[in-house]
Formats: sequence, C-alpha cells, structure tokens
Amino acid sequence: MQNLKEKIQKLKLEKNAIILAHYYQNDDIQEIADFVGDSYYLSKVAKECMQQTIVFCGVKFMAESAKILSPEKTVLLPNIESGCTMAEMINGEDVRQLKKEHPKAKVVCYINSTAEVKAESDICCTSSNALKIINKLNSDEIIFIPDKNLGGYINEKAHVKNMILWNGFCRVHEFVNVDEIMKVKNEHKHIKVLVHPECNKEVRKLADFIGSTGGIIDYVKKDTDEKYMIVTEEGILYSLRNNNPNKQFITPKTPMTCCSMKKNTLNDVYESLLNKQHEVTIDENIRKAAHKCLIAMHEMAR
Ligand code: 13P
Ligand code: SF4
Repeated sequence: MQNLKEKIQKLKLEKNAIILAHYYQNDDIQEIADFVGDSYYLSKVAKECMQQTIVFCGVKFMAESAKILSPEKTVLLPNIESGCTMAEMINGEDVRQLKKEHPKAKVVCYINSTAEVKAESDICCTSSNALKIINKLNSDEIIFIPDKNLGGYINEKAHVKNMILWNGFCRVHEFVNVDEIMKVKNEHKHIKVLVHPECNKEVRKLADFIGSTGGIIDYVKKDTDEKYMIVTEEGILYSLRNNNPNKQFITPKTPMTCCSMKKNTLNDVYESLLNKQHEVTIDENIRKAAHKCLIAMHEMAR
C-alpha cells in the first residue's frame, strides 16, 4: 500500500498532475489527495490550478465540471463507473420540455447534473451556494433541477413565488430513517444533528445544522460542543475525525454509503496517471453552453 502511494506521488510529479478528492472518497484516496473538499470548492480548485492534468477522485459530474471550466487541461476520472445516480434522473430533453412549459422561468441546476443538462440551464449551484444564488437571482419563477430536496429546502428559506421542482433525489440521503435520528437524539442529551440538504424534509426538520459537506466540516471545527450525529455520506468522517480528534461522531445504523463514490480505488488512481485513463471529453457546443452556466455560478457565488 505504502509503495503504491509512493508510486502515485512520483508519477503525479512526473506528469505535472494534481489529485482532487471529494469528502466522500475512500480514506486512502483522501490521504494522498492534494485537495479534499466539497463540490463547489473542488470546482474552484480545478478552475484555478496550474497543473496540466487533473485526476478527479469523485463522481463523473465533478470531473465533467472541471473539464467544462478548463478545456485545455486533461481531466481524468480514475474509475469510469463512478456516476452520480441523481445526475442521471434528468436529461437535456426533459429540461427543454420544462422550459417550454414555463418560458419565463430561470433554470437553476444543481451541479449534480450532466453537461447536457447544464448546457440547457441558466445557472448552476451547489448545496453550499444555492441559497445565495436563488436570492441574488430574485426571480418569481424558478425551475430547480434535479434535486427536489435541495430545491425544497432552498425554497423554505427563499420563498420564490413559483418554484418548479424536478422529482430527482439522492438514494443515499433520501431514505434515512427518521425514527433512528429521534432515538439518538433521545439517548444523547447534548448531541447536535448535522444534515446534508439532500435529505428529505422530515429529516431536515430534526437538524441543528443543514449544510454542504464543506459546511458540516466548518461547523464542527468552529462549534464548542463535543457530540454530533452526522447525516450524510460516511466518507466525511475521515476529515471530521482527523480535524477533531476529541469529538464524538455518531452515524445512522444503516450506513450512508455512496457506491459510486467508493468505486475509485488507489490502484485506479495509479492506473489513471500511468495510462491517462479515463479522459473526460465533452462535445464542444455542449461544453461552451455548460461553461456559461458554471461561470455564472462562480461569479454570483463570490
Ligand atoms: P457537496 O456539494 O456538499 O460536496 O455535495 C455533493 C454531493 O454529491 C452530495 O451528495
Ligand atoms: Fe450522487 Fe448521492 Fe452519491 Fe452525492 S451521494 S454523488 S448525490 S449518488
């Protein structure tokens, strides 16, 4: 294992590459990454980094977003099967149909979407900046795709006159057991429940804090309490435990595991650097349209 990690570091330098990893990646991948973060932070790093090659340890839409923002760079997704199931719940034709039905609406798409869907949208958002973006848009009619939970959560705060939601969701976050959270809350008097906005309303209602993966990491770092229930994908525990060795983290009994995120292995990262696999390519017309949507987010979220 150590040998493989050393080989990766050596190849990375030889190839002038950078390794980015999402908080949900396997621990050993987070350990060797140059940057670990949430989807907004990683898209910023991908846009601004100097290296010619980006090895994106995350899911496909994340690597695609890096390529949309930096077409001159080589973007590699170590395991080609790591796709986000939520992103596949809507396609370009669905968005065109929605726009026909609501011609005056602004289309806001969650970054968890394909390049084709971004190309049909006005602006992108992540869970860390969605509220800011919807507030700044100041529009009476918004089509929010594809996550009904993030869209619903944002609308509870922003009160858009007509928020049209798509019925997309994340399987990892949608089916969390509410009774289990209640039980943990009852058993541990001073526990704080931290929830990702991809969770459904019943779960969000029990939260002390709702935020992106990066938001949850920051919250725990600054907070003075000691015990937390973490209601998001379990990969986040690697950073939470490393940053807060004296704090205690409890997770739902049924593990919240994103199988797509876990597909990338250290060996895939090594192969990826060695054989330039799997290189992300996007049709140039789609890329240009999707670029406008992502850049609009980066400008508005500043
Ligand atoms: P973050 O933007 O919070 O990193 O979330 C990405 C994601 O896929 C959550 O399921
Ligand atoms: Fe997609 Fe859910 Fe996995 Fe996030 S946790 S990448 S939304 S399937």
